[in-house]
Amino acid sequence: MICLGIEATAHTFGVGIVSDKGGVLADARDVFRPKAGWGLIPIEVASHHKEVWQDVLNSALERAKLSLKDIGLIAFSQGPGLPPCLKVGLEVAKKLSSENKIPIIPVNHCIGHIEIGKLQAGLEDPVTLYVSGGNTQVISLIDDYYRVFGETQDIGIGNALDKFGRETGLDFPAGPKIESLAKKGKYIELPYVVKGMDLSFSGIVTEALRKSKNGIPLEDLCFSLQETMFAMLTEVTERALAHVGKNEVMLTGGVAANHRLGEMLDVMCRERGARFRCVQKEYSGDNGSMIGLVGMLMYKSGNIPKDIDIKPRQRTDDVEVTW
Ligand code: ATP
Ligand code: FE2
Repeated sequence: MICLGIEATAHTFGVGIVSDKGGVLADARDVFRPKAGWGLIPIEVASHHKEVWQDVLNSALERAKLSLKDIGLIAFSQGPGLPPCLKVGLEVAKKLSSENKIPIIPVNHCIGHIEIGKLQAGLEDPVTLYVSGGNTQVISLIDDYYRVFGETQDIGIGNALDKFGRETGLDFPAGPKIESLAKKGKYIELPYVVKGMDLSFSGIVTEALRKSKNGIPLEDLCFSLQETMFAMLTEVTERALAHVGKNEVMLTGGVAANHRLGEMLDVMCRERGARFRCVQKEYSGDNGSMIGLVGMLMYKSGNIPKDIDIKPRQRTDDVEVTW
């Protein structure tokens, strides 16, 4: 079976084509870039997606050397995400489905990250640390659900980094810039906020910005933000790992590109005798292939939801893992 996956939860419009025999056959995407100093404005991102969807679709089909006639299933990301963006994904999926008589299946975005990560990193049953713009979660599969063991109580870690960057004049996305500035910084104490298994980032950003206004060098703040926030993530991941008794850790999401975060998790895993894998950049960010992959797994296991709609606040543990 060949499944076409459509991703449109936030800034990325992505189309991936996956097969149950050959894995990912093609992956195309177009990422909306906001004006300098601006965050994502949902309706602007949605109009970007409306402009690019056809080209992205065509290039995925071309790369796979396939046409819509070869597609047996269409999967789309139903949430969590920005409603105007999700709607574009849904509309494209419905149009392709009705015009070509192809069944359609809704997919949870976060589960997409986990499944494509497992496939790409060669892991069986990891504790996953999923860190992106809007999401920060520690997840593991228990009794047929991807349970969330710890998560942010306010903003995602990527958004926290981007917010700090926006206020201090760094380009969007600020994560990579902060990572390179941090190499020249020294440690300054910032609040360390772990509450039970949950995390909170917005107060740390507020304090770092206050220190910035008081003349603390940007390099030092970048270094200290990373050390503090990543230590929090590592602590919660380690406790989840001990609790579920597994021996694999997977790092994914856009922030997984950060080498310092990977290094901290790697050290923690070595000390516990666990395997650590970071998902390759190509498949750690938002992409259509992860949606196609989960759509196919759901469909083949007979899990075909009747409710074809967006779910902007859908949670990872709302979806039963039937595959
Ligand atoms: P979501 O998946 O929650 O919808 P998103 O689509 O915004 O969020 P991704 O594309 O997965 O997220 O990741 C983007 C985020 O990753 C941005 O916040 C960016 O600053 C951050 N990021 C990218 N590279 C790095 C890096 N090297 N270090 C830290 N953060 C990074
Ligand atoms: Fe994502």
